[in-house]
Amino acid sequence: MEQLKAKIRKEGRVLPGNILLVDQFLNQQVDTELLLDMAEFWYERFKDKKITKVMTIEASGIAIAVFVASRFGVPLLFAKKYSSTNVTRESHEVNIYSYTKQVSYNVAISKRLLTSDDTVLIIDDFLANGQALKGLLDLCRSAGASVAGVGIAIEKAFQNGREAVKDFDVDISSLAIVEALDAETGEIRFSGDEVKGEERA
Ligand code: G4P
Repeated sequence: MEQLKAKIRKEGRVLPGNILLVDQFLNQQVDTELLLDMAEFWYERFKDKKITKVMTIEASGIAIAVFVASRFGVPLLFAKKYSSTNVTRESHEVNIYSYTKQVSYNVAISKRLLTSDDTVLIIDDFLANGQALKGLLDLCRSAGASVAGVGIAIEKAFQNGREAVKDFDVDISSLAIVEALDAETGEIRFSGDEVKGEERA
């Protein structure tokens, strides 16, 4: 999606450790016009799937998912993070280890709110090593809910997020696919960009 890629090029910053900072328009301050365009893109992509709920995980996915849920005219459901295991039996629960943040946390969703009657569109800001997405897919599996697709704003293709969820065989629609980040030069290379100096056959 060109609007998102242009915004990342203009306002994204590359930090050491292969981290892309997008707090100026996505993660902390939010560009609502851009989010409307992103929601429209996913609506066109998944509008025939009879989505009953848009689902995400606390925290940064929520802003994006609100716009998407609004466009589909369905509720937004977000999985809640817990630092301990004291969730009730009324919740589906999963443990997630984040390679990016090197922390482990529990995530829960109420059994009342996600059921086998649901067809879900999962939305998140980043796909890195994929553990957050895998956790959401596990929660849907526990609930017996169908997953119609996954919308990701920024996929870091050089990490193994897709591989981590390949057993779920789910349709992933990423709006900006980052092939490489360079913290020294600040370069952000997207899938489809020409590599400088590359010889073409
Ligand atoms: P992981 O397995 O390495 O943990 O990767 P995953 O795809 O599950 O992403 C884990 C978390 O790390 C996500 O946050 C994601 O937004 C964040 N993340 C990964 N790479 C980047 C990056 O390059 N830039 C930024 N800004 N964030 C990144 P989360 O667990 O959903 O938590 P929250 O930050 O939304 O609270």
